[in-house]
Amino acid sequence: MTSLFEGLKMGDLTLRNRVIMAPLTRMRSKQPGNIPYDLNAQYYAQRASAGLIISEATQISQQGQGYPATPGIHSPEQVEGWKKVTQAVHAKDGKIFLQLWHVGRVSHSSHQPNGGLPVSASAIQPKNSGTFSADWKPVTLETPRALERSEISGIVADYKKAAENAKAAGFDGVEVHSANGYLLDQFLQDGSNQRTDQYGGSIENRARFLLEAMDAVVGVYGKGRVGVRLSPYGTFNDMHDSNPVTLFTYVMEQLSKRGIAYVHVIEPRSTSAGGTDEVMRDAPCTSDLFRKPFNGVFISAGGYTRENAIDVVGKGTADAVAFGRLFISNPDLPERLQKNLPLTRYDRSTFYGGEEKGYTDYPFAEAKAA
Ligand SMILES: Cc1cc2nc3c(=O)[nH]c(=O)nc-3n(C[C@H](O)[C@H](O)[C@H](O)COP(=O)(O)O)c2cc1C
Repeated sequence: MTSLFEGLKMGDLTLRNRVIMAPLTRMRSKQPGNIPYDLNAQYYAQRASAGLIISEATQISQQGQGYPATPGIHSPEQVEGWKKVTQAVHAKDGKIFLQLWHVGRVSHSSHQPNGGLPVSASAIQPKNSGTFSADWKPVTLETPRALERSEISGIVADYKKAAENAKAAGFDGVEVHSANGYLLDQFLQDGSNQRTDQYGGSIENRARFLLEAMDAVVGVYGKGRVGVRLSPYGTFNDMHDSNPVTLFTYVMEQLSKRGIAYVHVIEPRSTSAGGTDEVMRDAPCTSDLFRKPFNGVFISAGGYTRENAIDVVGKGTADAVAFGRLFISNPDLPERLQKNLPLTRYDRSTFYGGEEKGYTDYPFAEAKAA
């Protein structure tokens, strides 16, 4: 049986274990300019024992930002800031990918260039969904503007430029964020995509934007250093599709053909992308559904405990498991899981914004015992 704690060959990399740090937005970049700084470097370095760290979602352009103080990868200052993070992680022998993010309609005009409307596949307002404005006020999402066909190639170019910047900043690779109802997911699923051009209608057309973005970043990093995150059946940000199995099977097959390093699939049992502690016990198991159509490394995330992570890797339903909330509150999570040490409970009130508290002050098991 494969162990969660053994190494894994993944694309061009060899990971030291299969405990992955999931991407986690913490809204703590330096202002103004959404620039990573020393505190962020310390936080990631504390977690360098992960098989792989996937960074918090990082906007590829100003248009791609949807929340305050999330970091970007489109200015020279941001690239310099990220260098501090990658150097600190590499100094501890860790590996780190950057998650490339465009939020699409999950934004607010206060984040948009010239105060314009957020953009999406179609002008469909997500129900019961919100964000925070540039001055940190809770706001409901506006009805977005449907992107012109001619604008899409510009966003593909932004993905490419962001990957070039990530490479310059020293990241080991990139993960394209196509999950949780952000822009690429808005194109994939027919609940948010009602376009009638080459980017809407058939599954092939709805997957076109994602695959163009993937090809653009593979062109920069090579296929062995590129992954993608997907959330079939996820309902966060008002997502739904009439036929998720056919849609995501097609996507997996297309990604397989490209030979990328991994797919990273979120189990829908963890609701609101980790925004609540509720677990949907009758949700479909997406690692069971989509493991087969993808022939590379399969990372599974969402609601994992020590027991079910050991089990899913042991059975081979996933090659590795990404942990989100438990990695927030346990910087040394791989060691704690391996030795079956007690886990520190996370404090939801410090997930977003602020400084050290709830960020770099969670204890290591060794220090606790001392
Ligand atoms: C505070 C917080 C921030 C998150 N930020 C991101 C993000 O930036 N990108 C992403 O793909 N998922 C994000 N997620 C989702 C997590 O990566 C993960 O899929 C989710 O928390 C479920 O896994 P868990 O049960 O191990 O926490 C976030 C979740 C939380 C709780």
